[in-house]
Amino acid sequence: MEVVLMPDRDRADALAARLLARAVRARPTLALGLATGRTMERVYARLAAMHRDEGLDFSLCRTFNLDEYVGLSPADEGSYRHYMNRHLFSKVNVDLRNTHLPDGMAADLDAECLKYEDLIREAGGIGLQLLGLGKSGHIGFNEPLSALRSRTRVKGLTETTIAENRGQFADPSRMPRRAITMGVGTILECRRLVMLVTGASKAAVLARAVEGPITSMISASAIQLHPACTVIVDEAAAADLQEKAYYRWIFRNEPEWREDQDL
Ligand code: GLP
Repeated sequence: MEVVLMPDRDRADALAARLLARAVRARPTLALGLATGRTMERVYARLAAMHRDEGLDFSLCRTFNLDEYVGLSPADEGSYRHYMNRHLFSKVNVDLRNTHLPDGMAADLDAECLKYEDLIREAGGIGLQLLGLGKSGHIGFNEPLSALRSRTRVKGLTETTIAENRGQFADPSRMPRRAITMGVGTILECRRLVMLVTGASKAAVLARAVEGPITSMISASAIQLHPACTVIVDEAAAADLQEKAYYRWIFRNEPEWREDQDL
């Protein structure tokens, strides 16, 4: 795992978008793993701009989102399908038929979870998975005690997560209590992971995820097991990290990141 500590949020966002764009350019048929949340809205705005201004081409991509709320239809403004259509899919040239999220309205949710795993497998696995970090330490909706080998399944949401996300609903009491999420094991099988974490509110949980022990209590700590994982953070999110000087050095000295310095 490498942590890249960027001087500010804009540069952190820009680097995440650039890594994703680079991966799409290198392999236009890439199976892209996507995430939701406020952090990703800024990344998607950048990708939309790259599509518009630089012709970044998503026409052959397939996408797989990490999670979806149980009980919300795609038309529901609180659903992650709605979020993805609004922030990314409607702004780039991806074929909507190639965009996948679990179906939170499925009559048989367990069968839907198995189907989602099959879809990922049939696509040849996910090439690059974008990740955010939840306050409860989750990736996707893998709340505390998610098995490190868990697969796509239904998960109950913690009070912390409900408190964090309910503001995204016009009527906060409509926020679902359950979601379908890729498992930690599913995520660890993606060929590359790019996690983006910004802002002071994530500092404590980021330190536990990146520098703490690997534990199912903080499912994001499992990314320490992944052989190709980049964690992009800004100074505010990095406040509680022990090895900040080292992470800053990575930003300044590694050629892969250097070209991003003058963003
Ligand atoms: C949701 C998603 C997570 C995401 C998290 C962080 O809970 N299920 O995948 O990482 O939000 O969101 P934000 O960027 O809004 O802090």
